Amino acid sequence: MSRPDADRRPQTTAPVADYKRQAAERALAFIEPGMKLGLGTGSTAALFVELLGARVRSGLDVVCVATSEATADQARALDIRLTTLDQEPFLDLVVDGADEIDDRLRLIKGGGGALLREKIVATASDRMIVIADVSKKVDMLGRFPLPVEIVQFGYRSTSKMVEMMASDVGCPGDVVVRTAAGGKPFLTDGGNLIIDLHLSRIVEPDVLAEMLRLIPGVVEHGLFLGLADAAIIAGPKGIDVIEANYED
Ligand code: A5P
Repeated sequence: MSRPDADRRPQTTAPVADYKRQAAERALAFIEPGMKLGLGTGSTAALFVELLGARVRSGLDVVCVATSEATADQARALDIRLTTLDQEPFLDLVVDGADEIDDRLRLIKGGGGALLREKIVATASDRMIVIADVSKKVDMLGRFPLPVEIVQFGYRSTSKMVEMMASDVGCPGDVVVRTAAGGKPFLTDGGNLIIDLHLSRIVEPDVLAEMLRLIPGVVEHGLFLGLADAAIIAGPKGIDVIEANYED
């Protein structure tokens, strides 16, 4: 799956790539033989899959469910054993990247367009570990455009409704239909469209998430709330492992 035009993050620089790799490496410490794993999507998750492949080559026995066709292709090329959620409905752990992470481990995901399968796999997993470089850590979600997967039928109507709903809950902003290289609409692995919500700030992610759920043309949104159990964040000051605290 190629990166969409709408993904306007700065190009990966060498140190950022190093931090991503460090986070991915640390995540390997959570992998145990015999585990059923979810494999995320995106450049950071791809580094994890690459490192996992090396472990598998040295004899580690795990079975994995990929969150996108791109990740499945990568895993196959590395001889990582793949299964499906139909065969293994529950997984031990998913390791995935994120576009933004706040203090409460709430996430924006879907920059790579795989948010639906990512959320299904995260929900089917006992634990979700997020791996990221420090640039993904934010005080408030929303600077990264929020991806929302919508069905093609009536997409203009759905987009308008999403825009109005978001504005009603204090998140005014533009809605942009994501395009792929060449300007054609970007299609997800499920054949749906992605709209990116340029909101700047999402003051109450729970409220926005609830509202988006009410719109029939919305398949899923990129707010991952209460799903991440830990985040491994690497940066110039080292690696931080932040555990979620859902007791509050
Ligand atoms: C894929 O749909 C996304 O949710 C990715 O996990 C997210 O975009 C992070 O990607 P990078 O690791 O490439 O920054």
